[in-house]
Amino acid sequence: MASITLTDLVKKYGDGYPAVNGVSLDIKDGEFVILVGPSGCGKSTLLRMIVGLEDITSGELKIGDRVVNDKAPRDRHLAMVFQNYALYPHLTVFENIAFPLRLQKGQFTEAQITDQVEFAADTLELREHLDRKPANLSGGQRQRVAMGRAIVRDAQAFLFDEPLSNLDAKLRGQMRTEIARMQRRLGTTTVYVTHDQTEAMTLGDRVAVLRKGELQQVASPRALYEQPKNLFVAGFIGSPPMNFLPGQVSGDTLTLPFAEVPIDDRLRSAIGDRELVIIGLRPEHVEDAKVLDDAKRGAGVVFGAEVDVVEWLGAELYAYIPFETHQDVAGKLEELDRDLDGEGMRTQMVVALGSESRVRDGSDAELWFDPARLLVFDPESGENLTYDDSEASRIDSETEEDRRAALERAQREAEKKQGGDRTETAGGQPTGRHREAS
Ligand SMILES: Nc1ncnc2c1ncn2[C@@H]1O[C@H](COP(=O)(O)OP(=O)(O)O)[C@@H](O)[C@H]1O
Ligand SMILES: [Mg+2]
Repeated sequence: MASITLTDLVKKYGDGYPAVNGVSLDIKDGEFVILVGPSGCGKSTLLRMIVGLEDITSGELKIGDRVVNDKAPRDRHLAMVFQNYALYPHLTVFENIAFPLRLQKGQFTEAQITDQVEFAADTLELREHLDRKPANLSGGQRQRVAMGRAIVRDAQAFLFDEPLSNLDAKLRGQMRTEIARMQRRLGTTTVYVTHDQTEAMTLGDRVAVLRKGELQQVASPRALYEQPKNLFVAGFIGSPPMNFLPGQVSGDTLTLPFAEVPIDDRLRSAIGDRELVIIGLRPEHVEDAKVLDDAKRGAGVVFGAEVDVVEWLGAELYAYIPFETHQDVAGKLEELDRDLDGEGMRTQMVVALGSESRVRDGSDAELWFDPARLLVFDPESGENLTYDDSEASRIDSETEEDRRAALERAQREAEKKQGGDRTETAGGQPTGRHREAS
């Protein structure tokens, strides 16, 4: 296992287009980092540069303390995990997992191979499937076989490129949990690429958001959600996406399409002397005013809105409310929408209400939000003017503590499970120790 350090990495393809443009990122030993961004933002290119399948145009790539810019893929000791196509259909699960060991002819005895394959199979709960062929396994089991192959290679790090994108939603959810659990158990440095923000939010210790080859923000999922640095990150993270509303400033009042908000100190220091800003409000931060008690109602802003369509989802409902945007921010929001691979729906607000709400299609709703939830963005640069760096760091370190505790718990449990006949599994690094077994 090792750290991976990217310094100012650039990749220009033949036509000179910078697919990756000056990316710097420190991935710590044992960390699980997600690279996320819309299609075409350079995620696969970056991953392929790390693994050695793509030349580095400029910048430096280190694995541990070694600069590996010019090292061949096999000398980097990384394992790339693919979805389906990397399994050999005519070989059993055992042989599929053993494959990288057999490639290194004569290096391992039969007993060593068996030992390592069984270790991987135990870790991935594949023991009872070792004699089966890939065709007879479920998608999730096949995915685990592919991971088993990465485990026996004793790689410095695992690299995943959208491994779940071919699976249906339910299996994707299961595999997500599976991968998170396996990574925790093994403690292997992992870089995982996805365009799916839900996957990014649920899997990673830290999430790196890419836009057009450039890193936008690297933070824990919760810090990205609560303290996005700019419009792009704010719009990308969260589902349904954050609402962006034009906010016109006159005196001490901020006028939104539906409501007037008194400008308090926090908003004032963000707005400065701007006359027009973009306001961000998450759908889940709006509530149905009719179901609130007086104290809560009085502590926020209540506004009337004509609801167009309601989607009922059981635990909550989404209400869509059309509005006219201000022409001076329309261009910026359209550009943002294109970058986000959006569907051009920025002129309706979506609110996520609790299931007790009686709001229906065509309702004249009375809605509520807490102005402390409003984010203020610069309409030119897209910068989040309400971004609070110390709060973001605080959330990050809290997340790191939780993560460390989870890691320790997972590894203790794995040791308990594999203890007994395997005395060598007490303490030490999980991927290295099975080597010493025979
Ligand atoms: N072999 C290539 N030659 C030229 N351009 C490429 C090549 N591979 C990718 N690109 C371009 O680089 C950009 C990033 O691609 P990619 O890394 O595949 O994005 P992602 O994985 O985020 O969808 C895209 O604009 C893509 O068209
Ligand atoms: Mg890709």
